[in-house]
Amino acid sequence: MTIAVLPEMPADAGELSVWPSSATPLPHGGLAVGGVPLSEIADRFDTPTYVLDEGEVRGRCRTYRDAFPDADVLYAAKAFLSRGMIRWVQEEGLDLDVCSAGELELAVTAGFPPERIVLHGNAKSPQDLAAALRLGVGRIVIDSPSEIARIAAAVGPSVRQKVMVRVVPGVSAGGHDKIRTGTEDQKFGLSLTDGGAQHAVARILGQPQLELTGLHCHIGSQITEVKPYLVALRRMIGLMARIRDTHGVVLPELDMGGGHGIAYRPGEPALDLAALARRMRTELVNGCAAAGLPVPRLAVEPGRAVVGPAGVALYRVLAVKHTGEKVFVAVDGGMSDNPRPVLYGARYAPRLIGCHSTAGLRTATVVGRHCEAGDILASDVPLPGDVHPGDLLAVPVAGAYQLSMASGYNLVGRPAVVAVHEGTARLLVRRETLEDYRSRDIGV
Ligand code: LLP
Repeated sequence: MTIAVLPEMPADAGELSVWPSSATPLPHGGLAVGGVPLSEIADRFDTPTYVLDEGEVRGRCRTYRDAFPDADVLYAAKAFLSRGMIRWVQEEGLDLDVCSAGELELAVTAGFPPERIVLHGNAKSPQDLAAALRLGVGRIVIDSPSEIARIAAAVGPSVRQKVMVRVVPGVSAGGHDKIRTGTEDQKFGLSLTDGGAQHAVARILGQPQLELTGLHCHIGSQITEVKPYLVALRRMIGLMARIRDTHGVVLPELDMGGGHGIAYRPGEPALDLAALARRMRTELVNGCAAAGLPVPRLAVEPGRAVVGPAGVALYRVLAVKHTGEKVFVAVDGGMSDNPRPVLYGARYAPRLIGCHSTAGLRTATVVGRHCEAGDILASDVPLPGDVHPGDLLAVPVAGAYQLSMASGYNLVGRPAVVAVHEGTARLLVRRETLEDYRSRDIGV
């Protein structure tokens, strides 16, 4: 389809900076993503709907491959997973990081090669480990001492399972307390400073069923600076050198996790991927040379930076309420499809779609439809003063950790996911219906 763009349309490039690069303003306040007008998607698929720009996902995968040509890039499935997403990531040459039997099975049954998958988790269930061994997962990342004997005992006698050790490098980084994982006051990994990591390494090396391929760390999420990665990298190389000195073992792999930060609103900082790749490579090469180590194969595990900016949440306005000084714009989704504002105080920049307003902007708070006063999607954002029920509201940078953390609160049903690409829209994940809930509820 062709999309008419008004020549006199203000080039709101700044405002669209956090949108997928395919985002195109249309006449009368419309907006197209992936060549499809958002209003058309809302009419055809109803709301709330999550729109995923396939070209943006693929482009971001390619940016990673280009920035890290000598490293493995694993997409962190927890950010968002569906069979369509698995296909795109696979076709673009990325590997996969999963943290449950569910994510693993979905990926493998969608055709993703199991040997290109890494399994994480601070508390892996018997089902997680059984699925990993049955499907032949590439690496299992050991996160606590008790896992060592559990995995070794579960591996068949003639097989060796490749494993890594998750190390806490003692680096604090990340966009919020709840997503900082590089220091010892949180549940993930084994400590570098108290000897926990070294002890685990020694025990793994004593297990003939396990092949220790390398070390892993993940210092946090939504990190916008390169420096914490370099500090962590230096410490990980130091540990690799100590392992070589103690055990005479040179580990061939080093996985530095994900956490690469993105802008959610225009003007916010994002991690510079090219700089990250370049400086990590330099640090790795120099650090290994100084320690007399061969350079290990590097891996990174981005989730948010691959899929976050490719997603747009589409809502219909249900009610507008003026209360004292405040204007509440209530939409047909909320904390059940996006818990991030409630959990982390995350801020978004919603945009009214398809309304040619002359009313001027005023400050409003976009709230959801759930029975909780804290059900806020975006507080104090500028919206046209005449916003009214029936209007369409779109929230960019909605692709990561929204639907994957969606809940069943109030039995509202999780939204549909629609892929857009080169002027075509197609359903990736259908909307959750009352029938889905009813069929799980066995009855009295
Ligand atoms: N690798 C490991 C071992 C991880 O635990 C994570 C994320 C990643 C990679 C990917 O991190 P990313 O590149 O997506 O930042 N729900 C939170 C984020 C939690 C991240 C958990 N682990 C949020 O909405 O901000």
